[in-house]
Amino acid sequence: MSDAPNPIAHLPAERRPRHVGVIMDGNGRWAKERGLPRERGHEKGADAVREVVRAARRCGIEALTLFAFSSQNWDRPPEEVVHLMALLRRYLIEERAEILDNDIRLTTVGETERLPSLVRDPLSELMEVSKDNRGMVLCLALSYGGRETISGAARRLAQRVADGELRPEEIDVETFARSLPSSEMPPLDLLVRTSGEHRISNFFLWESAYAELHFSPVMWPEFGREAFIVALEDFASRERRFGLTPAQAETAPRVASGGD
Ligand code: FPP
Repeated sequence: MSDAPNPIAHLPAERRPRHVGVIMDGNGRWAKERGLPRERGHEKGADAVREVVRAARRCGIEALTLFAFSSQNWDRPPEEVVHLMALLRRYLIEERAEILDNDIRLTTVGETERLPSLVRDPLSELMEVSKDNRGMVLCLALSYGGRETISGAARRLAQRVADGELRPEEIDVETFARSLPSSEMPPLDLLVRTSGEHRISNFFLWESAYAELHFSPVMWPEFGREAFIVALEDFASRERRFGLTPAQAETAPRVASGGD
């Protein structure tokens, strides 16, 4: 893969996102439009995951976070949850070689302890064997909710204060950000949502503070390399100011992003 040309070579390096997050939406509607069961939409959605991960690696993206299963998705019909878990397991087993061959480090955000062992086992194995890979971080948001993650971080900080390890005045944006699981990745630059919906739906609430938002009309099962590159090109066209004036932002475009 490293020998393949970079599909975004035409975009200036400083206008390429380091970290892209994707809300993969529209599997159910894609299936319904074709008179198929929702499960078929998720299966085709898993194929789109494969294509987008490959495209992101080719494009030199440092981190790709995919919102694969939300805290709220547990309340879907049990048979749909079971099917999604089986699909996740299949993905982890079938993509293992490709992930390792392409120097990808697999990681997660979310309450993965809630996942059944049929997912947790291949997940933790692949995270362990890929932990030294440096080509790209692939982060799966699983049993993930932005509010749940933020309240969990607040709870842990409060406990440290109660234990006398931390003073309340030491809690600022940087300390808080460091207590979130996403802190091991570059700041989120671009948030993509597919299927024409314009919502963040409890995804990276903290992380998206200064992310550029790209809403694609394409249903996730149809979203592939081409639509991903459209999102990256859209990102490259944006003027990011991080609250500064245009003149200030031009000289210090990354300063206000919070760094890494
Ligand atoms: C949203 O579509 C999608 C999901 C809730 C699950 C996403 C899962 C996949 C893309 C497949 C498996 C994932 C991996 C990483 C292999 P929806 O069902 O809410 O669609 P709708 O809004 O049209 O009903």
